[in-house]
Amino acid sequence: MEIKEIVKEKYGQAALRVTTGGSSCCGASASADGCGVDPITSNLYDAGQTRQIPEEAMLASLGCGNPTALAQLNAGETVLDLGSGGGIDVLLSARRVGPTGKAYGLDMTDEMLALARENQRKAGVQNVEFLKGEIESIPLPDNSMDVVISNCVINLSADKDRVLREAFRVLKPGGRFAVSDVVVRGEVPEVLRRNMEMWVGCIAGALQDQEYIGKLAKAGFEGIDIQPTRVYSIEDARQFLTCAGVDVDAMAPQVQDKFMSAFVRAVKPSAEE
Ligand SMILES: C[S@@+](CC[C@H](N)C(=O)[O-])C[C@H]1O[C@@H](n2cnc3c(N)ncnc32)[C@H](O)[C@@H]1O
Repeated sequence: MEIKEIVKEKYGQAALRVTTGGSSCCGASASADGCGVDPITSNLYDAGQTRQIPEEAMLASLGCGNPTALAQLNAGETVLDLGSGGGIDVLLSARRVGPTGKAYGLDMTDEMLALARENQRKAGVQNVEFLKGEIESIPLPDNSMDVVISNCVINLSADKDRVLREAFRVLKPGGRFAVSDVVVRGEVPEVLRRNMEMWVGCIAGALQDQEYIGKLAKAGFEGIDIQPTRVYSIEDARQFLTCAGVDVDAMAPQVQDKFMSAFVRAVKPSAEE
């Protein structure tokens, strides 16, 4: 419960910063202090995508990847975005699935929902619905979605098994899980891991790649694949870690290339199997 309250508070403030004209660069990263270029959240979307959505939605982007660019989305399909924030990926998905399809965004933070609905209004997109709720208990029926996307949210959950079970439940047989998330590659000493996770903003902790694969399989998914999209260097985190009292040069070899943003995909087996 405590983790959820911290996450709500953090993203409630982030949403308000966007609405009051501030920047959304509120991540835990070092560069976010001066709101410089954040190596995690910046430059995720290309010009073709940014043209399709209001600037405010773009400013509210707090993801670590671009799931709609990597996911297969077809006209007429139904998409759910877990932890939809300011709504960027929902609005982009809505355009991709077209008027015969629908995109849902699910978020637990009131301020983010208000921002997302305002962005929907500005974008003039009809085939979108933002729902209030938690990704651990999705307020949608079984077998109702073609695709579940998410952008840097599952790492914030203290009960990742439950989130993955819920994603599996709401997907139709043959439905696709297509998620951007922070993932740890291989083993990292616990103290370093905690410091890096604080830098990335993973309040509840990122999953190790093999752990992620295991949890997806346990939830019932198949065709599981994790592709790195951005691998973070020790230099990305140097200022933050130095402030946290970490001897960066000493720990560099143990952290180098271990933390990444990744595109995680999996499929719910189709009914015939
Ligand atoms: C890192 S931001 C990402 C927002 C959006 N996906 C994007 O790419 O800009 C995390 C979002 O997930 C929401 N969130 C975090 N944990 C959640 C949970 N357990 N249930 C529902 N929403 C959650 C937060 O309110 C916040 O809007």
